[in-house]
Parts: sequence; structure tokens; C-alpha cells
Amino acid sequence: MIRMQLACPLQRAHDAIMAVTFLDPGLLAYLEQQLPPREAGLLDMEHSAAERGFPIIGPACGALCHLLARLAGARAIFELGSGFGYSTAWFAKALRDNGGGVVHHTVWDEALSQEAQRRLQQMGLADLVRFHCAEAIGALQATPGPFDICLLDIDKTSYPEALPVIAARLRPGGLLIADNILWHGRVWKEEEHSESTEAIRRFTAAVMQDSTWWPSIVPLRDGLLLALKR
Ligand SMILES: C[S@@+](CC[C@H](N)C(=O)[O-])C[C@H]1O[C@@H](n2cnc3c(N)ncnc32)[C@H](O)[C@@H]1O
Repeated sequence: MIRMQLACPLQRAHDAIMAVTFLDPGLLAYLEQQLPPREAGLLDMEHSAAERGFPIIGPACGALCHLLARLAGARAIFELGSGFGYSTAWFAKALRDNGGGVVHHTVWDEALSQEAQRRLQQMGLADLVRFHCAEAIGALQATPGPFDICLLDIDKTSYPEALPVIAARLRPGGLLIADNILWHGRVWKEEEHSESTEAIRRFTAAVMQDSTWWPSIVPLRDGLLLALKR
């Protein structure tokens, strides 16, 4: 419904955000249109992201994260790279439905951290969130865990460095979710060697070829890597 819910001036910005998918944009729009209605707080964040060109995981991946957190019965979730709290809101809703818990929100921008606190407060979810205005890998190292789920969505060059820290903090049977794993389709282009692309390739290979993980790549939006820790 997003296409229909957006006011006209936002449509172009929304289309730019949707362009992060290498999928047919019509397919992504179709998938989003099938989702159940979302509450005002989530829709407001989606509109704001479209207006500002801010990269959130979007409603299709958000709904999948919610589903996975419900399936896992998650009570302890750590997000690396939380922006203004959109993915955090999906996880916090799952925690509430699971009977309680905490989702750690990490971002190094003070203004984004404050905005997330305000938005999640307005949605009645802030009691389920612990806010870290800090570098995310260091914040995870400083937080004992264990965690049921870790979402990785920081600067892409840091993905390889984050992996062993996440592996140490997830419980056995815990779930790693990493966003942008297809990196706008650059990862399979042989001529593409940017630092971010190479880092995502190294990270992906490290997960897919390590018997620590039961991994799968879901080509939704910009690609989610899901990996269960043995
Ligand atoms: C892609 S956005 C996160 C979007 C969020 N997961 C969502 O879907 O709503 C990544 C955010 O993390 C911040 N960031 C990037 N690398 C970081 C790091 N190493 N530590 C903390 N914040 C980081 C960026 O400034 C940005 O605000």
C-alpha cells in the first residue's frame, strides 16, 4: 500500500529508496502491497525515510524480522546500526508479543539516537529498548548477552570485523540477520571492487563457508543473509 499511501511529492523519493533493490521494483511494490496494514508510527518512519533518502530495511524485511523474532521466541536482540529506530520498532513489537525483553538500539549519531527514542516512546515501545549512542561493534563487545538475534546493518566495510563479535554474543541456535548482502547487485559483478563490495563478499564467504552457521540468503529488497548459529 505504500505506493498509494505516499503523497505525490514523496513518490520520487520513495522510488529512489526502492531502487536499492535489484529486484524488479514492481515486484517489491507488489510484495509490500500484500502486507497487513501497519500502525501509524511505522508508516510515519517509512514516509520520513523516503523524504530524507534514509536507508531503512523497509516493510517487507521489517515484517520478516518480526516473524523471525516471533518464531525464535526472542527476548534479547542486539541491532548493529539502528538509524532512527525503524527496524528496532519491528523487533520491539515482536518482543512485546513474545511477553517482553530488550532490543538494543545502536547508532553513533546523537541526533538519530534522540529521534529513535522519541519515536519509540510515541509508539509505546521504548520500555523494550536500550539505546546506545556509540560505535556498534564496541557496544556489542561491551554488552554481555547472550542474544537470540543480532541484526547487522552498519557501514558495510565493517561487516567482516563484526562477525566474530556477533558469533561470540549469539546463543547456540541464535540468529544472525545481515542486511544489504546483495549490495545493489554489485557483489556478482566481476569488475566491481569497491571497499564495501569486497567487504560484503568476504563477510558472505566467511558465513557461508564456516560450519558455525546454517546460512541462507533471502533476495528480498537488497538481500538479507540469515544464519543460525550451531
Ligand atoms: C542502514 S542505517 C540503519 C537502518 C536501520 N537498521 C533500519 O532499518 O531502520 C545504518 C545506521 O547506522 C549508522 N552506523 C553505520 N556504521 C555504524 C557503526 N559502526 N556504529 C554505529 N552506527 C553506525 C549509520 O550512521 C546509520 O545511521
